[in-house]
Amino acid sequence: MKDSNTEQCSCCNPCSKDEVKPDPKSPDRRKFLGASVGIINVGLLAAIAGPVLGFIASPLGRKRSSKWVPVAALEDIPEGAAHEISYKLAIKDGYQDITQKYTVFLTRQGDDVICIDPACTHLGCRVKYQDDQKRFFCPCHGGVFDAEGKVVSGPPPHALDRHKTKVEKGQVWIQREV
Ligand code: FES
Repeated sequence: MKDSNTEQCSCCNPCSKDEVKPDPKSPDRRKFLGASVGIINVGLLAAIAGPVLGFIASPLGRKRSSKWVPVAALEDIPEGAAHEISYKLAIKDGYQDITQKYTVFLTRQGDDVICIDPACTHLGCRVKYQDDQKRFFCPCHGGVFDAEGKVVSGPPPHALDRHKTKVEKGQVWIQREV
């Protein structure tokens, strides 16, 4: 016997006559709610991800600045030859503040001092100063630079980098990017 309270609707499920059938002219509530939840989720994701991504990317956007660093007393630098000295510098390494040790070569002529960076301009190996030949030599691929840091032979594409220097009250300062 057929139940008079049910009839077949378009979704193939028996429906009760008492149930409210969807009105095709009314707004689709499910779509509206789905879109609302989607918008809220996107907002929440942006609220969480924005600051996190900003924190992660912050070292990339940091501008480099230069800083004068005292490295040696002028009287401690012998004239003529490149003199290797070490100094410490506080830098930002990613998210950390660290103190790093660096080395440079200082060459003095009277009160004039030039400062040569030891990083080879080929692939960054540390050059050594060979006093007997008055040259810098790179042990990695045989790059040779003269006493002023100009390329003599080998693969380095250009001269060794220099840092600006100044002498104040007998103290030698170099300018570094930090
Ligand atoms: S890194 Fe110095 S010659 Fe290659």
